[in-house]
Amino acid sequence: MNDETPTLDDQSPARREELAQLRAGLNEKRKWISSMYFYDEKGSELFERITTLPEYYLTRTEVAIMQAFADDMAACIGSSATVIEPGSGAGEKIGLLLRALDEPVAYVPIEIARGHLEASAESLAQQFPAIEVLPVWADFTRPVEIPSPRRASKRRVVYFPGSTIGNFEPDDAVALLGNFADMVGPGGVALLGVDLAKSAAMLEPAYNDSAGVTAAFNLNMLDHLNRRFRTDFVRDNFEHLAFYNAGRWRIEMHLKSRCDQVVHVDGEAVHFEAGETIHTESSYKYDDKRFAALAEAGGFKLLRTWRDPDALFSLRYLAVE
Ligand code: AVJ
Repeated sequence: MNDETPTLDDQSPARREELAQLRAGLNEKRKWISSMYFYDEKGSELFERITTLPEYYLTRTEVAIMQAFADDMAACIGSSATVIEPGSGAGEKIGLLLRALDEPVAYVPIEIARGHLEASAESLAQQFPAIEVLPVWADFTRPVEIPSPRRASKRRVVYFPGSTIGNFEPDDAVALLGNFADMVGPGGVALLGVDLAKSAAMLEPAYNDSAGVTAAFNLNMLDHLNRRFRTDFVRDNFEHLAFYNAGRWRIEMHLKSRCDQVVHVDGEAVHFEAGETIHTESSYKYDDKRFAALAEAGGFKLLRTWRDPDALFSLRYLAVE
């Protein structure tokens, strides 16, 4: 008897496009792979562990800022708001905001991973029975039509925590803010989590933790690719590399080849020299001036900033210009 689940040979247009992008990135002089391939099931699990590491100050600092200033944020946003969350995650932070707001009308999570979207929508609907949950299955970097709640809403607010904005190249971050401005419309606002620029001595340990979880997270991408595409990356032939590129205001993560080697990508040979790297992620850091300029270029005005006492992390309140 054949009791194996047949594996599907995915030749859909979406998969073909992904493969074309993967090959293009690996054929460039400075090799790169999209950071979206971090997040298979294992990768999402590893990221959750990263957020609890002693060196990874971002998540706990952002939660502390939310706890300290949620009432202040809620006062800025006002009553009867519709809260839109692009890339809705596990949901600890959104609860802090929804609990502080005065009679929020609706919660609109936007997520490309359908399973995650349904799970978070379900859990939020249970936790907040008075709030209408309107999940949208979409890529939030593209135009998204925001559904209208049954009850009248006074204002739309995009909530985008986690310094996810930092993973976008500055030009793409501007375009993303423009997309958020379209989602909330005239009179709309946004509340964004933004990691702050600081010394390499403080930044680098957050991406080089002593337990090696970030290294496992970075290397897991290769296992994910091998499962998803016809690639034959040998995980042990690469190592984790993360450093602060101060001139470009960003942490860079790379996978560094430990030897001269050839990797096949859908039949095509890709050569690696020993020490050569694949750029897998950038995590941009901002100071006030640079963030204000970014917001403005994206069609918003920066109205308020909340920080922790050590100025590690910030929450930014923006209004459509
Ligand atoms: C979730 C994208 C904000 O850039 O700090 C954590 C991802 N990468 N450790 C970040 C990440 C390595 C994280 N973001």
